[in-house]
Amino acid sequence: MDVVLLGPPYTAIAALHSARKEVMLEVLIEKIISGGGGNWGMAPMVPNDHVTEDEARAMTEWILSLESRRAKEHAKKRAELTWERSSSLIEKETL
Ligand code: HEM
Repeated sequence: MDVVLLGPPYTAIAALHSARKEVMLEVLIEKIISGGGGNWGMAPMVPNDHVTEDEARAMTEWILSLESRRAKEHAKKRAELTWERSSSLIEKETL
């Protein structure tokens, strides 16, 4: 999901566009179906005209949701690390 194969990783797409989600949802649906480039380097995305608008909408909503999912995971990791750190400090103090 976040390794570059051909085209940008979905997590990077989510990070780039999540601030303008409503507008980008429509732009990306059109781009997935018709193809196009300009955002991620020299190679354009090929047209995927077998994909219906509903399918493109569902995929794009999922892709753009990855940013908030990533932000939530990040917050959870931080909370866990803080907890581990404070418990190890408490352990040291009580030894
Ligand atoms: C249904 C399948 C696919 C979906 C849902 C999808 C989705 C996306 C999305 C959301 C972007 C970001 C566009 C932007 O930021 O403007 C993107 C970019 C891109 N995708 Fe796809 N893609 C699909 C299939 C493919 C295929 C089959 C290829 C190539 C064989 C491809 C190659 C690329 C490339 C090269 C870009 C960068 C285009 C740019 O620079 O703006 N994609 N794709």
